[in-house]
Amino acid sequence: MRKNTMLLTNLAIFPLVVVATSDIVARSVPGDRVLALNFNKQKYQGNGHYSSRLGKRTVESVINNEYLGYYIDVEVGTPPQKIRLVLDTGSSDVWIPSTSSKLCRSRKNPCTQGAYDPALSTSRKVVSGGAFKIAYLDGTQARGDFVTEKFSFANHTIPDLQIGIGYEINDSAGVMGIGFPANTAAEVAYPGFVEGLVSHGFINSHAYSLYLNDQESDTGSILFGGIDTKKYTGELRSLPILIGDDELVPTQFLVDLSSIGFVGKNGTEKPVSTEKLQVVLDSGSSLTYLPNSTIGPIIKEVGGYWQRDAGAYVVPCSLSNNYEEFVTFQFGEPLGPKIKVPLEELTNFAIDVKGDLIPDEDGNPICYFGIQPQPKDEDDIYIFGDTFLRSAYVVYDLDGQEIWMAQTVYNATESNILEIRNSTKTKSGVPSVKGVEDEPKFTPTTAEAKETIRPNMGLRVQASGMFSFAIGIVGCIMGAMV
Ligand SMILES: *[C@@H]1O[C@H](CO)[C@@H](O)[C@H](O)[C@H]1NC(C)=O
Ligand SMILES: *[C@@H]1O[C@H](CO)[C@@H](O)[C@H](O)[C@H]1NC(C)=O
Ligand SMILES: *[C@@H]1O[C@H](CO)[C@@H](O)[C@H](O)[C@H]1NC(C)=O
Ligand SMILES: *[C@@H]1O[C@H](CO)[C@@H](O)[C@H](O)[C@H]1NC(C)=O
Ligand SMILES: *[C@@H]1O[C@H](CO)[C@@H](O)[C@H](O)[C@H]1NC(C)=O
Ligand SMILES: *[C@@H]1O[C@H](CO)[C@@H](O)[C@H](O)[C@H]1NC(C)=O
Repeated sequence: MRKNTMLLTNLAIFPLVVVATSDIVARSVPGDRVLALNFNKQKYQGNGHYSSRLGKRTVESVINNEYLGYYIDVEVGTPPQKIRLVLDTGSSDVWIPSTSSKLCRSRKNPCTQGAYDPALSTSRKVVSGGAFKIAYLDGTQARGDFVTEKFSFANHTIPDLQIGIGYEINDSAGVMGIGFPANTAAEVAYPGFVEGLVSHGFINSHAYSLYLNDQESDTGSILFGGIDTKKYTGELRSLPILIGDDELVPTQFLVDLSSIGFVGKNGTEKPVSTEKLQVVLDSGSSLTYLPNSTIGPIIKEVGGYWQRDAGAYVVPCSLSNNYEEFVTFQFGEPLGPKIKVPLEELTNFAIDVKGDLIPDEDGNPICYFGIQPQPKDEDDIYIFGDTFLRSAYVVYDLDGQEIWMAQTVYNATESNILEIRNSTKTKSGVPSVKGVEDEPKFTPTTAEAKETIRPNMGLRVQASGMFSFAIGIVGCIMGAMV
């Protein structure tokens, strides 16, 4: 979520997978200082309903016109009070809803992600009463006190983290903003969560890597102070973080996008746009936004259309199985990263306030495209949210003021964690280590590999090829019958 301006859109849509929660596991590499927080995502269940707990949140989300995101579980105060926060690279304040806010006291009690009762905590120290005021791009706001509190996550504790307490709020979910300190909602920038990790010696650098993973998957992670070379292919490529027009230091993860393309079934890439755009990487936004003129040609390729009533692009839900066609994004040419986003990741099932799939006139589910036009009254900075970020392994290096990106490996089961050293402007501390092989190799060259690996790989590929072929035929026959 970017703060301070309004982003209005009348879409009530959610990813099929509700990414909920945490069960955070911290892991330290011997000698190195890296902190891993794993998300667990709560999956959408069978017949079109979310679990009732999330259902409540869904109702609230629609009222607040807000999307579901990635959550981290934390404990605040003494004794600890459990709260679940939205992980947000688009803002820089950590804030939690107060139990005494009108919203949390309302009969609906939407504060199901947890709320904080200041009266019950002995470790709260008020820094500045009434000074906390934040407004996000989606129209939600929070106001209250700045305090320092004991803040714990995954068996680690920062004894005196500065956070906002939301007494006047219109979104029940607190936020864990991990952007640049210069973007905090205070008159004078203050040290935030990432600084807290560094100053308490949990990590050595102001840097982290975010692995959101496939929208169909139930795992993902953020590594503070480290990278995991098994989670991306090829090499990480860097991009300078841009400094805004009226600013002296970077305030958000703003980078140059140089072109967009489309790769169809035959593997040939077609240019879609070579317009130079500035985009901000924002894990607190579910969707990705581009100029309408850029989305048109992509929508034509994928057989989608503009639905006037919803004010959004709709695509065939069959694309939710399509890992073969991609929208490609080239950043900072010519040596910058290029990320391919499969259509599967850009297909979002629409659900209603109860969490049921919204059917069209023929009873089929409706799917919204993961890229939508940025509203006209917005500035010229385009928001790249989760529908893009899931396909990229992104390293946010706040010290070196660089973004590093590579193509993500979905559902990676292995791990090789390396520490990020403290970067300077001239020397990056991000390890220059290749990830896994670019493309799976089906014709290994060594004799040994040929004997042991090849037959298995061959069979697996053939089987899945036949399976999708069979589905295709069934689809055609049914189509012909009606
Ligand atoms: C916290 O530490 C305890 C004891 O070392 C361990 O059993 C537990 O799994 C840890 N919990 C998390 C969330 O890391
Ligand atoms: C949140 O509250 C503010 C202030 O009352 C209001 O201007 C804004 O429209 C509200 N936003 C939403 C999404 O309800
Ligand atoms: C990392 O470098 C930055 C700027 O060079 C410096 O401000 C910061 O204190 C350093 N952090 C550590 C942990 O050495
Ligand atoms: C990742 O795993 C999920 C199940 O956990 C599966 O639905 C999805 O298709 C997998 N993605 C890829 C790219 O294999
Ligand atoms: C590949 O497919 C696209 C349509 O997606 C088509 O425009 C293009 O001409 C094809 N290229 C080749 C080499 O067949
Ligand atoms: C986007 O373009 C389509 C097709 O040209 C048009 O119908 C629609 O109104 C446009 N949407 C916005 C938000 O500008």
